[in-house]
Amino acid sequence: MDIEIRPITYEERPEWVQAAETAFSSVAKEDEVEASLPVIEPDRSFAAIDGGRIVGTSAAVTFRMMVPGGARIPTAGVTMVGVHPTHRRRGINTGMMRVVLEQAAERGEPLAALFASEGAIYGRFGYGLAGLLGEFQAESARMAFVRGYEPSGRVELVSKEEAMPIIDEVYDAAMRPGGVERNAALRDHNFATVGEDKDHPWMYAVHRDDAGTADAYAVYWTKHDWTRSVPAGTITVKECVGATPSGNSDIWRFLFDVDLVATVEAWNRPADEPLLHLLREPRRLRFSVNDGLWVRLMDVIVALEARRYGTDGRLVFEVTDPFRPDNDGRYELVVEGGEGSCTRTDAAADLAGTINVLGATYLGGSSFHQLWWARQVEEHSQGSLERADAMFASSPAPWCVADF
Ligand SMILES: CC(C)(COP(=O)(O)OP(=O)(O)OC[C@H]1O[C@@H](n2cnc3c(N)ncnc32)[C@H](O)[C@@H]1OP(=O)(O)O)[C@@H](O)C(=O)NCCC(=O)NCCS
Repeated sequence: MDIEIRPITYEERPEWVQAAETAFSSVAKEDEVEASLPVIEPDRSFAAIDGGRIVGTSAAVTFRMMVPGGARIPTAGVTMVGVHPTHRRRGINTGMMRVVLEQAAERGEPLAALFASEGAIYGRFGYGLAGLLGEFQAESARMAFVRGYEPSGRVELVSKEEAMPIIDEVYDAAMRPGGVERNAALRDHNFATVGEDKDHPWMYAVHRDDAGTADAYAVYWTKHDWTRSVPAGTITVKECVGATPSGNSDIWRFLFDVDLVATVEAWNRPADEPLLHLLREPRRLRFSVNDGLWVRLMDVIVALEARRYGTDGRLVFEVTDPFRPDNDGRYELVVEGGEGSCTRTDAAADLAGTINVLGATYLGGSSFHQLWWARQVEEHSQGSLERADAMFASSPAPWCVADF
């Protein structure tokens, strides 16, 4: 059977969205399709077609990702990956990933990144686990903060229209490595109250400091529960971001203190969640982590030169990239004054591993030691694991707030 893979046309967007939903054994409601159209870039959105019918989808969205040191670099945000259950395991996704990445390379994007529905899908394509994703189900009543905490400023509940520009500002100010620039189209899509979300009473809370500057926001909804007449509602946080420590602490204090609520749950929290140190009983947060952001280096040299490093030093990596073998080879990274310069070399390798290892360590979210213990890195010269970890270390932990 011949499967054609090609970019979609502008007119095909609704059909393509619905085809992606079919891969998830779901059907998108009309308003959900409508809300997703503005973020679709037809020339970066591919369809696999069998007998005139779309049976597979895969795409990239264009944005810039913040890397350690603060630079924001062009990144292919891979998304809408799906193959119909009728066509699975015939290599269609592999074929689509090939064209999506080939196009990213042609566009000169040194990184590709994604969130995975299942971690097993993407390792073969060279993605490494670059950032963990935290989630929690907090017992509101047990969320006392450590001694010495004093709230400041004030929280305001505002309309969605009022909230959006404030969210943009705080989101950008709070961005850290792994974060991506979120244009209005992606932001509107992230906050589209369509499908099931339409029926939720969304609240938009903004925290302002004593000078009146917005420094944190939370978007959430409350599901009430009156079992046996006891109020035990649940707040589900869609996004909660603070640009300052006080803004962040105060907005969480606000959420934990909402009346009639027993549980506050949040998803896509940073792995270094500050609440673990702000709460007297961190365990009551019931915090857990999973794989989150997966990063693939498209261009090793450009990517390694774009970020900054924790210490100076020299390292030679031997990289193997079975999916894009043009990247195979040895690379010498020399860091001076925190800035890296990278060239291909014939010199002996200090460390060796797949391109996935560089993706995993690139944002500082995984260490070379960790990957060595997982048998993903070979150390050829003594001390190079320590050196690599000192050079690549980056804090805070990577966190991509935007959903793409
Ligand atoms: C995930 C998905 C896109 C894979 O598409 P596909 O066309 O079946 O993938 P391929 O045939 O190219 O598979 C290539 C390899 O990946 C493996 N693979 C694919 N999906 C996998 C999964 N979910 N778990 C483990 N391995 C998987 C295949 O077994 C195959 O391995 P092999 O080469 O060793 O045989 C498809 O199963 C799907 O649409 N799933 C539901 C929606 C979804 O989860 N999308 C991803 C969103 S991030």
